[in-house]
Amino acid sequence: MERTKINVLLNLEKTPGPVLIKGWVRTKRDSKEFCFLEINDGSCLKNIQVIAQNDLANYPDIQTITTGTSVAVTGPLSPSPGKGQKWEVPATDIDIISLAPESYPLQKKRHSDEFLRTIAHLRPRTNKYGAGFRLRSEMAFAIHKFYKEQGFRYLTAPLITGSDCEGAGEMFRVTSLDPKTVKEQGKMDFTADFFGQESNLTVSGQLSAEMFALALGDVYTFGPTFRAENSNTSRHVAEFWMLEPEMAFCDLKESMDHGETLVKYLTRHAMEECPEDMALFTSFVDKSLPKRIDTLLNTPFARISYTQAIDILQKSNKKFDFKVDYGTDLQSEHERFLAEEYFKTPVFLTDYPKEIKPFYMRVNDDGKTVAAVDLLVPQIGELIGGSQREERLAVLKNRMAEMNLPMEKYWWYLDSRRFGSVPHSGFGMGFERFLMMLTGISNIRDVIPFPRTPGSIDF
Ligand code: 4AD
Ligand code: MG
Repeated sequence: MERTKINVLLNLEKTPGPVLIKGWVRTKRDSKEFCFLEINDGSCLKNIQVIAQNDLANYPDIQTITTGTSVAVTGPLSPSPGKGQKWEVPATDIDIISLAPESYPLQKKRHSDEFLRTIAHLRPRTNKYGAGFRLRSEMAFAIHKFYKEQGFRYLTAPLITGSDCEGAGEMFRVTSLDPKTVKEQGKMDFTADFFGQESNLTVSGQLSAEMFALALGDVYTFGPTFRAENSNTSRHVAEFWMLEPEMAFCDLKESMDHGETLVKYLTRHAMEECPEDMALFTSFVDKSLPKRIDTLLNTPFARISYTQAIDILQKSNKKFDFKVDYGTDLQSEHERFLAEEYFKTPVFLTDYPKEIKPFYMRVNDDGKTVAAVDLLVPQIGELIGGSQREERLAVLKNRMAEMNLPMEKYWWYLDSRRFGSVPHSGFGMGFERFLMMLTGISNIRDVIPFPRTPGSIDF
């Protein structure tokens, strides 16, 4: 018989008769003449209840079944008299695939997130993490669906790069040089390295995306990005996934419109396609989630300039750990104050001082600010960072000179401003931060399968 997944079985209107299910035992309860097994196969949050009568040939073995044991169960799908479940399976056959001994760490119903991080290889077998990673999968699909519907093309940007997009110097080096040789020579001879020059893991696919937007129109990249910033916060990991749309013939306002449409679309998709998993987050992670989701879906996002934001923060009477000064980057406490307390909605901040932003952002007419945009959201702070790009060759070259960037290395980037340059805009959205917002999960380590953070790469 072919195996049927539990999410399929639980949604059936009529019984198909005998079914074969395969999964892991979450709990076993014994009574005199039978035992109940709760089986989960990861296809959905819910378990299916299996009843094993003591007349089964291998009943003594079945009695030894422990939490975590993998089993294959055959039996007719039958209406359940129990509360809260439509179907159950009185087993005609239970095959124990592999017993999990008592040392299986997921015995208790609830474990701390800290503990579960130490067993990241097992935590997807819990309700909360199972829900989180099913949602993550569904959201990745929703991103591609959204962009397909919007007529965008998907670009896979290279992960190994020779250029620094953000110019923040937070890159992981890629090299094939032998550490022994480097030691002997007392330096890294990049001419002898694999690519004949310094290379790094990408911090952003943007520069590639820009080239393709200027060819295919609207494109997006969605893939892993790497940052060697030594920040041990609940919102930073060294390897994370970024979604980066890049749109030709598009200004900053249109880019914000796009970002707002995107966030609302993905949120709606989560509510429609993952109602059970989303309900779990409300019950067990964050009771205020429904209210936040409602705001996300139904309230227009606020839009103000950086200068206005500084003004609001300075007049706020709120005690911040970091001082608010025009010309400095906002700290997450400031970002959260604006989104959580002041606007109580996501808020786009635009037009930052050029000194605190990368070279590629379009210089505004005031000559002091650039057409940058960050989307700040409650609980998280920065979810999206982007800009209108500097499309004017002369202005771009000026900026690069001001910032001491090696112009010759960016010859191909500059070419795009030489040959049919057009206004274009785009942004990056941190996928993990988006998932945090959607679930209320407050640590980024808990929405990514195997988090990479300073000093930690066990899995
Ligand atoms: O603001 P960022 O640095 O923007 C860029 O890299 C642009 N080149 C994107 C573009 O315009 N195409 O990063 C974009 C987003 C941030 O808003 C944040 O959500 C996320 O990426 N992010 C991180 N997420 C997790 N861990 C980190 N260390 C992150 N750094 C940035
Ligand atoms: Mg940013």
